[in-house]
This record gives sequence, structure tokens and C-alpha cells, in this order.
Amino acid sequence: MKSNTNSKNTAVIVIATYNEAGSIQEMLDTLFGKIIPQIPNWDCKVLIVDDTSPDKTYEIVQKNQKKYSDLHLVINPVKLGMGNAIVKGFHYAMDKLNADVVCEFDADFQHPPQDIPKLLAEIDKGYDFVLGSRKIKGGSVPDSWGLMRKFFTYVGGFTSRFIMFFPFRGFFQITDPTTGLRASRVKGFVDQIDLDHLYSLKFGYKIELLFRMIQLGAKVKEIPLKFGLREKGESKIAKDTAKDILFVSIKCRWYDEFTQKFLKFGTVGGIGFVINFVGFRLLKITFKDLPYDISIINWISNAIAAECAIISNFIGNNIWTFAQEKITSFNQIITKFFTFNLSSVLTGIIIPSTFVAILTYLLGDQWSSIYLVIGIFLITIPLNWLVYNKIIWKKQ
Ligand code: GDD
Ligand code: MN
Repeated sequence: MKSNTNSKNTAVIVIATYNEAGSIQEMLDTLFGKIIPQIPNWDCKVLIVDDTSPDKTYEIVQKNQKKYSDLHLVINPVKLGMGNAIVKGFHYAMDKLNADVVCEFDADFQHPPQDIPKLLAEIDKGYDFVLGSRKIKGGSVPDSWGLMRKFFTYVGGFTSRFIMFFPFRGFFQITDPTTGLRASRVKGFVDQIDLDHLYSLKFGYKIELLFRMIQLGAKVKEIPLKFGLREKGESKIAKDTAKDILFVSIKCRWYDEFTQKFLKFGTVGGIGFVINFVGFRLLKITFKDLPYDISIINWISNAIAAECAIISNFIGNNIWTFAQEKITSFNQIITKFFTFNLSSVLTGIIIPSTFVAILTYLLGDQWSSIYLVIGIFLITIPLNWLVYNKIIWKKQ
């Protein structure tokens, strides 16, 4: 429930500041004088989160609070980093200011204030997460940045989006993952994120918030950002920022539920493969004196070894990979195990064998081991993953 009497939605522009005494006055005058009046359909508030700046940025803000009633200030007693400041701001915006949308914005005019109405216009269209991108048409970094700096921004951003999202949707949707200009919808998104346990309190927080928003299924839109030059004060970006962003990207991907499941699925499958391979060798030796042709002995040996692998896969996936969807009732175990067997024979034997046979027919026998490896990675693994997730251990 909203406490304000009008029916407008509330956007809180959260600005972290540390030693921004040179810019903050002009920024506040621009926001309240020029920008906010352009967006009458939004109830806009500005929230400054200052880490007790030695240059007393917060005192300038306090003075302005007499003039601007929608100006709010949170003073952090210690400097713990930009992420920490923004998180404090998000909490305050949601708990005290009834924010429907939170915008992240820099105090130093490197983000053009004119972009704020553009962010909110996209939210109006139904997007949940709008980002200013320096890498799409119309966006840019300052010309005067050296080649090295441009290169690092580009490679760093690409690496981060690759680590976090490849080959899924986010990888193609997000061109500028480290951007600091964003608007995020609160309901269903920011209010679902555990802001108090982020991997980084520094610049890397950006990456994790981005990851969580994508994970929550936010509708994403990028608008072009012409990133300006800083005119007053100094950048607070630290030397270890690249490392911070890299570590956060890796952690997000690694601890993601999907990744964890996929790794367990891979491990269980790998163990199954070893059981099949070693089992086949051992059974061959065991059966070698039986009065049958070697082809029959091979057939029996592999059939038994493969079934052992199938059983091992079923148990391993049931108690480990899909522990959350674990099948426990006896009847279900019987029917699901039957389906599992059937699909394993199809995806693990019939389909890849046919694939190898076709390629052998078309291209010759000299590469047959390669055909098999391709078949396993391109057909067996994806198909098994699909069948396990969509049929056997389907989420309720
Ligand atoms: N309270 C607080 N505490 N504010 C901070 C801190 C901090 O520890 N560190 C930085 N800030 C504030 C600055 O005062 C500024 O308003 C804003 O956060 C951005 O900091 P800058 O120091 O200007 O960062 P930058 O310009 O080098 O980095 C920009 O580009 C990056 C992408 O390349 C920012 O937009 C980043 O958000 C962005 O990731
Ligand atoms: Mn800056």
C-alpha cells in the first residue's frame, strides 16, 4: 500500500557520493530544476547516500533539503564502498520512500541527467530493468579515453557477460554489464533480492544485481549512454575493480542453481561412463570362456555394464542432482526408472549410434571416434538434460 495520496508511482534516484562537493550542488539544481519537471507522471525523489565525505558533501545536501522537499539523505558513518552505499540507498528507498522504481545514478555528470526521463519512459512501456549502455548505437565512452582504457572497458564487459550468461539470453541482451546507470522495478524484482549478502560491497555489486535481475526474469531494455568526462573531483574507482568484477561474475555463475545442477549432472554422467567402460572390460574377461562367439560376449558385457551405468545415473541424479525434486514413492520410482531406462537406451545408444553410422557412411571411418564424441556432446548430453528436467525430475 502506498502512503502518498496521489496515484503516481514513485521513482527514487539513488546517488552514492564520496567527495562530490564540486558537483553535487549543480547536480541537485539540475535534477530538481530541469529534469524532474519533465516527468510529471512520476513522483520523483532524490536520495543521496554519502559515506561521511571528508569534503562534507553531505552538508551541501543538508542545506538543499530546506529548498527541495523531495531530497533525502542517508549518511554512512564509514566508507565501505559504492555497493554498500547503493544497498543502503535501496533499503531506504523501499522501506521509507515507497519506491516503485529505483534508479542508480552518479553525482559527477558522467551520466547525463537527461537520461533519467528516458529510463523511466522505458519502465512506463513495461520494462522491469533499464540500463544505459555505452556499447549500443548512440552510446559511447569519451573520445579522449586512451585506446587501452577503451579496450579494457570493452574486454572487461565482454568477459563478465560471457562468464555470467553464455550461451543464454542475458549474454545477448546485456551489452554493458558494468554500467552504473540503471532503473530497476522494485515489486517482484529488487524486493526479491537478498541485498544484505551480496558478494561485493564495492563496484562489483553492479554485476550481481544485474545477474539477479536477469535470473528473476526481468524484461530488459538498454538505452544508449554517452558516458561523459568527469569535470570536478576524482574517480573513486579502485585498481582492484577489474578483479572485483571478475570474481563476482564467476561467483554468480558458479553458485547459480542451474550451474550447480548441471555440474552434478555432468559428474553423475561421468561416473556412469566410467562404470560402463570399466564394467565392459571386466565382464569381457569374466565371460571369455563362455561357449559363445566374441560378438555375443561383447554384446552381453556391454548390455550389463550399460545397465549398471544407467542404475548408477538414476540413483546419483535422484539423490544428488535433483535432490529438490527427489522421487521417493515406490510406485513412482518404478515408473520413472522405466522411463529413464527407455530414454537412456534411446539417447545413449540408439541415437548416437545412428549418428555415428550416418557420418561414417557419408565421410568415412577414419574419424569415427570424433563422430562419437560430437554425438555425445551435441546429442546425448543435451537430450538427457532435457529429459531429466522436463520429464523425470520435472519441477512441481
Ligand atoms: N557513498 C559512496 N561510497 N559513494 C561512492 C563510493 C563509495 O565508496 N565510491 C564511489 N562513489 C560514488 C561517487 O561519488 C560517484 O557519485 C559514483 O559513486 C561513481 O563513482 P566514480 O568514482 O565517479 O566512478 P567512475 O566514474 O570511475 O565509474 C563509473 O563507470 C563505471 C563503469 O565503467 C561509474 O558509473 C560506475 O558506476 C561504473 O561501473
Ligand atoms: Mn564517475
